[in-house]
Amino acid sequence: MIAARSSQADLSSASHKSIQTLTRFLQAIGHPTSLTHLANHILLNLSEISRYPQGTLFLFEREHRHYRQIHMFGPIKTFVAPSVMKVDHPLVLALLADQHIFDRLDATLTPHSELSENRASTLPGSYTLAVPLITHGTLIAFALLRSPTTHASLSSVTMELLTAMAQGAANALDSILIYEDLCQSQSLMRRTDRLRSLEIIAGGFAHEIRNPLTSIKTFIQLAPERKDDSQFIGEFSRIVLEDVNRIERLVQEILDYARYMEPQVTDEDLNDIVASCVYFVQVKADRRGIKIEKQLAPELPRGMLDRQQIKQVLLNLLLNALDAMGEGPGILRVRTHQFQEPEGALFMQIDIEDTGNGIEPENLEHIFDPFFTTKHSSTMNAGTGLGLTIAHQIIQEHHGNIHVTSMVGQGTTFRITLPALHQ
Ligand SMILES: Nc1ncnc2c1ncn2[C@@H]1O[C@H](COP(=O)(O)OP(=O)(O)OP(=O)(O)O)[C@@H](O)[C@H]1O
Ligand SMILES: [Mg+2]
Repeated sequence: MIAARSSQADLSSASHKSIQTLTRFLQAIGHPTSLTHLANHILLNLSEISRYPQGTLFLFEREHRHYRQIHMFGPIKTFVAPSVMKVDHPLVLALLADQHIFDRLDATLTPHSELSENRASTLPGSYTLAVPLITHGTLIAFALLRSPTTHASLSSVTMELLTAMAQGAANALDSILIYEDLCQSQSLMRRTDRLRSLEIIAGGFAHEIRNPLTSIKTFIQLAPERKDDSQFIGEFSRIVLEDVNRIERLVQEILDYARYMEPQVTDEDLNDIVASCVYFVQVKADRRGIKIEKQLAPELPRGMLDRQQIKQVLLNLLLNALDAMGEGPGILRVRTHQFQEPEGALFMQIDIEDTGNGIEPENLEHIFDPFFTTKHSSTMNAGTGLGLTIAHQIIQEHHGNIHVTSMVGQGTTFRITLPALHQ
């Protein structure tokens, strides 16, 4: 009687512990910070519960139709597994068919890498546990855990606990993979948008280097006959050097803009970024009879900005403004100023104002939506409708905001507000 009660008590204390472990595990994987962090956490917990000391996690790679080993856990010297496993590997097929955990995997299913021949992992007495991670009927990953020494088979409570953990782990993995896919598409989208504005920059650049190249050419042509005129040589050398430096700076600007880099926030002069963008769209504006009026506040405070990203925002807004004014005539006003809240917070503001066709009130609330465009493929300037979406994201990432006012037939003003540094 007493023995029965105590074994019941043991059981209920074991299930209580299991629930606690499971809850802790699910809470911890609720907010994974990275795939590696999550993989480590999954292996660590599966290993702790199963008492298999070593583990490795294989993740499905859609494009290659195989499972790749992405993380290892525990003392790995004796655990050599193949780095990839094809979808038709007997173990993968078995996990897919049965969709349950295999304890003490039999030798026909145990994967070996070429390296593992004659190693401890294949020695009799080593045991493998395979845990499938399945969402929506798809085997998105699986964990292999191994014990280099004999291992008792797992109890039904442990198997149930591992099954519940595997379900939670599969869901968390699925979300992090979706999130990573999303980040990748977002970065691709930004890249494509940047490459599109690069065409305008290249046009401005070609135009801009014409003058310095002419001056360099003149100098080279005149130098032989004026080589003894020291004043000429001195003066012209200085001009040519300035021209070469200017071309070098422009090339660097274009390269930095084209080479999509990791976000890099530095202490920047916003006026300088605005001036460089206006400069690149000037040629396009001139061609269309559009006047650009630039008013840059002389004492504008500096700000922590990603120069290339802010350029991307401004180029998107400037090009939209030019599109709205069509073949002109029109005026594009670009102003910067500072603004201080009564509580003391300091901001920089940029206004980009055009005298274009304006935005219909019913469109105004959609212009920042992805793929919203009125520039359809039949028109000359077909658009993707991503320019303002990206601009909005970038400004938000800078803790700023972007605001628009528009009157049909009169024009549109975009105002960007960004936090500034106190001098
Ligand atoms: N200055 C503006 N004047 C009038 N309409 C504008 C202005 N800026 C944006 N819009 C409207 O907002 C829509 C969305 O702009 P967004 O920059 O996101 O995409 P797009 O310019 O159409 O395409 P893309 O930027 O890919 O070339 C535009 O199609 C246009 O209808
Ligand atoms: Mg646009």
